[in-house]
Parts: sequence; C-alpha cells; structure tokens
Amino acid sequence: MASKNRAPFITVEGVDGAGKSSHIPVIVEELEAAGFNVVQTNEPGGTPLGFVLRKEMLNAEMDVETEVLLAFASRKENVEQIIRPNLAAGNAVVCDRFTDSTFAYQVAGSNADKELVKFLENKVQKGLEPDLTLLFDLPCEVSMARLSGKDKDKFENRPIEYFESVRKGYEERVALNPLRFAVIDSTPSLEDVKEQVRVRLAEFLATWEPAPPTKKSTYSR
Ligand code: TYD
Repeated sequence: MASKNRAPFITVEGVDGAGKSSHIPVIVEELEAAGFNVVQTNEPGGTPLGFVLRKEMLNAEMDVETEVLLAFASRKENVEQIIRPNLAAGNAVVCDRFTDSTFAYQVAGSNADKELVKFLENKVQKGLEPDLTLLFDLPCEVSMARLSGKDKDKFENRPIEYFESVRKGYEERVALNPLRFAVIDSTPSLEDVKEQVRVRLAEFLATWEPAPPTKKSTYSR
C-alpha cells in the first residue's frame, strides 16, 4: 500500500521523442479528477536558477560530470523551493524528469561516475523518492524519427547509439525499482498511449492512502 500521509510525487521519464510532453496534461487531469491539487515542475528547470542551468546544460559542451553537477544544482533548488513545500502543503507534484534522467543520460549514456550520482542523490533528496514514475518507452528509431524537423538541443542531436544506451539505462532503473515504475508503450497511437496512462494512474491511485481529499463541502450554516 502506497501510504505516505500526503499527496503523491510523480515523475515522468523517457528518451527524447518518446512523447512524455503530450501526456503530462493527461496525468494532471487524472490527478485533479481524483481530487488532488496539482503542481507541475520540470528538470533541469523548475525555478529561475534552474532555467539558467537548463540553458547551459542543454546547449554548452561540457564534461559529463559537470552535467551531473548542474543537473543536481537545478534539482536541489527544485526540491527545496517547489517539490518539498508543495508536498508539505498537501499538493500532488508532477515533475517532468528527475534523477532517473541523470542515471540514464549521464551514467548509462555518457559513463559518468555512478557513485557520484548516488552520493548526490542521497545528499540532495535525503530520502525523497518519487511515489510513481511513468516511463514512456519506444524503439529509438521511432523516437528519433519523431524528433526530426524539431529545433534540437545538444542531447537530441546525438547519434542513435547514445539513445540506445540511455534506453538501456532506463531499463536498469526499472529492474532496480520495479514497484515504482509504470512502463508505458509509446509506440501506438496517441489515444492508445493516453489510455495506458489513465489505466496505470488509476491502478496507482487505487493503492494510495490516504484517499485524495474530497472536493470542498458545499454545506453552509
Ligand atoms: P526535456 O525537457 O524532456 O526536453 P524537451 O524540452 O526537448 O522536451 O529534457 C531536456 C534534456 O535534458 C533531455 O535531452 C535530457 C536531459 N537531461 C539530462 O541529460 N540529465 C538530467 O538529469 C535531466 C533532468 C535531463
């Protein structure tokens, strides 16, 4: 039973072009329909400093461990300014990418030191873990084809072999945390994928304790 005595913290992951941006609104809608007030954030980004770090991380060439440090600098601000305060206030938080991205892109994709990432994960998150991670998954030939024509950042311009490693990195994260992940097959049509998202969220919410807050009472004296 997923019982934390607060609203859920949900993260969304996948290789570039896997379609997570199209489905985040569905996740938010479902949570709101269940009675939660929802706050959205993203990484790198989420806060004013996070957006400055995002611009550098996505455009400037740098050592891969510098990327790790920037990702965690952005994450620290996001955790302290957005994620923890909102969870404490009873709001559900949906975060577009979190630490699984660092394990997939920097560690699996570019051989960054895994111990460095684990160390920063412990220091920055201090036990804070997503309650559910939706991983949008599809073959890299398909995700790369979906990116064509888009204005690409540094990562999106990398060769397919890089994305194959990132995808494997996500597979490892799922194998390590099978209860936290819901893997969504992103290959079918948008409507089919939306339906998978709805089903997986409904399954998750059915196990969530306490139940979502009920809508405000209309009773008046
Ligand atoms: P995203 O916001 O999903 O891109 P877009 O705006 O194009 O939808 O992700 C930005 C990029 O940042 C993505 O290529 C993955 C990368 N990234 C990392 O490499 N490491 C990280 O820790 C995070 C959070 C993102």
